[in-house]
Amino acid sequence: MTESTLAIRGARMLVNGELRRRDILVAGGRIAKIDRAVDAEAPTLDASGLVALPGAIDAHVHFREPGATHKEDWASGSRAALAGGVTTVLDMPNTTPPTTSAAALADKRRLASASSLVDWGLFFGLTERNLAEALAAQGIAGIKVYLGSSTGGLLVLSDATLDGLFAAYGGTVVVHAEDERLILQKLAGLGHAPLPLDHGRIRDVPGALEAVRRALEPAARHGGRLHVAHVSSPDEVEAVVRARAEGVRVTCEVTPHHLLLDESFVVAYGARGKVNPPLRPLPARDALWELVRAGAVDLVATDHAPHLLSEKDLAYPQAAAGLPSVELLLPLLLESAAERRLSLSDVVRLSSEAPARAFGIERKGRLEPEHDADIVLVDLLAVRSVNAAAIRSRCGWSPYAGRRLRGWPVYTLVRGHVAFGPSGYDASRRGREVTFRSAR
Ligand code: NCD
Ligand code: ZN
Ligand code: ZN
Repeated sequence: MTESTLAIRGARMLVNGELRRRDILVAGGRIAKIDRAVDAEAPTLDASGLVALPGAIDAHVHFREPGATHKEDWASGSRAALAGGVTTVLDMPNTTPPTTSAAALADKRRLASASSLVDWGLFFGLTERNLAEALAAQGIAGIKVYLGSSTGGLLVLSDATLDGLFAAYGGTVVVHAEDERLILQKLAGLGHAPLPLDHGRIRDVPGALEAVRRALEPAARHGGRLHVAHVSSPDEVEAVVRARAEGVRVTCEVTPHHLLLDESFVVAYGARGKVNPPLRPLPARDALWELVRAGAVDLVATDHAPHLLSEKDLAYPQAAAGLPSVELLLPLLLESAAERRLSLSDVVRLSSEAPARAFGIERKGRLEPEHDADIVLVDLLAVRSVNAAAIRSRCGWSPYAGRRLRGWPVYTLVRGHVAFGPSGYDASRRGREVTFRSAR
């Protein structure tokens, strides 16, 4: 049997930072050739007028299965991802049960294999008691450590546990960097029942910075590999940049909401804007943009955290923390490129190349021969407003509803298969678990 082939014809793609017309030949799920014209015999996907980018890699999603499938599962989350130009996701361990044991990891693998339409990898969650089991886990994206509590019960308070992890682990440690003791101190000192705008005072920048410091210290001492999730302030990024200059192997990510929303969203929508770490005042957001443009922030990841509006629009203490956005990852970044906050090359670096490199994902993140044919064909001129009624994530809402965005995925291909296109989804093929080489 011959390998199935597909020729994507007439697209433009980035060649040395410039858009050039190129054809892409796909064979056996990989990119076989990129040239001005390829194999005349192969079945054709006409991509005239579209721009080919490597599929986005969202290194931070919460697909909620097992345990909270009323707000997302692998099927709904991966469909949302495809619409956002995302072809690979790395899923966090704060599911129910949490991914903190070999059995829970095996179970989540079964669930993702059965239903995900995009390729995927899984994080293992660290607790105060499961270090040996975490170290024994094979094939994972990395080990996630919550230094402050967030959705789900995962939490590591002890520096000794963190030290033990860095002493023994060769893979990537991802931290949720907010210091639990400082959070509790601030909450106790508030002097009144907390309201939505107090979220940013309880979980302030010094608390985030202290947690970054607590993670950097053992990473530096043991030569470990650290990734700081969802930075919310320039201070955290500057700490990462300083450590990197001193030789620490550390990267960091920023979310779309910390770049595109700020505290005024909480003023307008109350607890709906509750997210960990919190949305900050406007100056922090502007400073983050500067650091993103300067290359100090390694990558963009959504921290897609779907909750129903009925779980969000509650009194502050009861409201769920987290904001969804996986299905808007590329539209939000492409709009930022249209506004000239970023170049198209920056978009590709932040959403594809850097996550593949940071986590050592094999054969992903680039449009190059031998790489997986994870390709998103985008229409840079398409202008649409985010329609709350058409949100694919099961949570059914978006903090970006009503925003006019320029640049939308038209086709999303996973290993050469058109999984999302103008006629909708083709769910006949499942995503696969990705493989990791030792991370850098
Ligand atoms: C996330 C969630 O809901 O799973 N919530 C959030 O506020 N970011 C958990 C997390 O990433 O901390
Ligand atoms: Zn987090
Ligand atoms: Zn998260």
